[in-house]
Amino acid sequence: MKDILSELEARRANARLGGGERRIEAQHKKGKLTARERIELLLDEGSFEEFDMFKAHRCTEFGMEKEHIPGDGVVTGWGTVNGRMVYVFSQDFTVFGGSLSETHAEKICKIMDMAMQNGAPVIGMNDSGGARIQEGVASLAGYAEVFQRNIMASGVVPQISLIMGPCAGGAVYSPAMTDFIFMVQDSSYMFVTGPDVVKTVTNEVVTAEELGGAGTHTKKSSVADGAYENDVVAIAETRRLIDFLPLSNREKAPVRPFFDSVDRVEESLDTLIPANPNMPYDMKELITKIADEGDFFEIQRDFAGNIITGFIRIEGQTVGIVANQPMVLAGCLDIDSSRKAARFVRFCDAFEIPILTLVDVPGFLPGTGQEYGGVIKHGAKLLFAYGEATVPKVTVITRKAYGGAYDVMASKHLRGDFNYAWPTAEIAVMGAKGATEILYRSELGDPDKIAARTKDYESRFANPFVAAERGFIDEVIKPSSTRRRVARAFASLRSKKLANPWKKHDNIPL
Ligand code: HXC
Repeated sequence: MKDILSELEARRANARLGGGERRIEAQHKKGKLTARERIELLLDEGSFEEFDMFKAHRCTEFGMEKEHIPGDGVVTGWGTVNGRMVYVFSQDFTVFGGSLSETHAEKICKIMDMAMQNGAPVIGMNDSGGARIQEGVASLAGYAEVFQRNIMASGVVPQISLIMGPCAGGAVYSPAMTDFIFMVQDSSYMFVTGPDVVKTVTNEVVTAEELGGAGTHTKKSSVADGAYENDVVAIAETRRLIDFLPLSNREKAPVRPFFDSVDRVEESLDTLIPANPNMPYDMKELITKIADEGDFFEIQRDFAGNIITGFIRIEGQTVGIVANQPMVLAGCLDIDSSRKAARFVRFCDAFEIPILTLVDVPGFLPGTGQEYGGVIKHGAKLLFAYGEATVPKVTVITRKAYGGAYDVMASKHLRGDFNYAWPTAEIAVMGAKGATEILYRSELGDPDKIAARTKDYESRFANPFVAAERGFIDEVIKPSSTRRRVARAFASLRSKKLANPWKKHDNIPL
């Protein structure tokens, strides 16, 4: 028996070594952790239960029958993050460059199936040379098996991808279908075709970093939701995000202990809005002042800064935030911000996370760039997402809510449950100047007359009371009391039930 046990230990030790000391050292030299070190950091200490440690590939081409490394380039299993179950896979670059073989894919599929059955998130740590070249179509089939599971799991369990090395070719499509992608600066990249192919086909000269590094995907393409300076920070932030999320669509998000009074009055908010309506202010100040302990987990911070998305907690409960940011493009809605916010709203709705919308929006950004880029279709995404969402929706208009953008931003008409406005709110079809220039075109030659008309329009429409008289605004609230009012609103909505009519699925304007 003793011999058998020591053999087991020897086999385990061998499997844990992956591609061997030399390759582990090479991995460390690149500033990267190994697959197992990453899992250790992600999960609570001692909670990891591994599957398929000894699973090996079945390939006999290109001399592969002589090269069997137990585990086949991916470490899989489950464990806990702050006591809550998650499934995890972590590609091991030291084994055949983390490339995906048929058996490697089977291991990932196994934990994905279990995650679906048991209702727990899937966290994938990607560090791979892509399809296992020696296996050809068997590897492609493996990818497709993973893709199919990504699709089935979407909206059922949260899926998070960490890109911690190469992720190229069709391999990018698995992370692309997960809910959140985090990248590591300088050591990860994602692209469909690499710099060499780009050079051959388009004659563009570009580095891997420029083409698909963390900066590119968080600032330009919006493929990734966040970028962190190294593996350790990326993993720590992933743990932080998991704490905000429910384990599946069968459960509510966790309620965390909170040490912040719900009645907290923030006097400073009474002066947040500048006297000049064209002056910006930082909407993030309002978000952190509403949040428990000022804790805000921002999603896509570096993309489309004119809208802010992320998670806070109120009374320990997770709330999704969507907020116009007057400091960027005056808070206008445009193609990028509509896409960004629409996807976030749909995530929240899929996982029963209530949504708080903070509105200061002068309208949609004008221009040929926007129209040619399809702002109609992209703006409709956000409108559609809000309108179909059945989760509790609380909206606070702090200042501007003009035109179509007023309707879009979780208005009463899109089944907003609580629609509050600050006394500084201006809710109208358009700004006073634009409106008077259209209504009184014949008087444009007389600046005094136009100024008087503008003033008159402002006093009649640039306020929240016209909307409040119609019941489109439920209450005009004091800015300093926003946290309390919002908290009470969400508390009253905890057992909200609202269902959409049966359909196979909708046809959101993609
Ligand atoms: C098998 C691979 C591999 C792969 C790397 N390796 N990629 N083995 N299949 N796809 C092996 C190498 O042979 C090497 O083995 C070890 O992994 C480390 O690779 P290096 O090249 O030494 O590392 P590095 O210099 O860091 O370069 C990493 C790399 C490069 C940029 C990822 O290896 C590379 O370009 N690989 C090929 C990428 C590729 O074209 N993949 C197919 C893409 S198409 P040893 O034994 O020396 O340690 C695709 C389609 C997916 O993925 C479609 C899904 C639908």
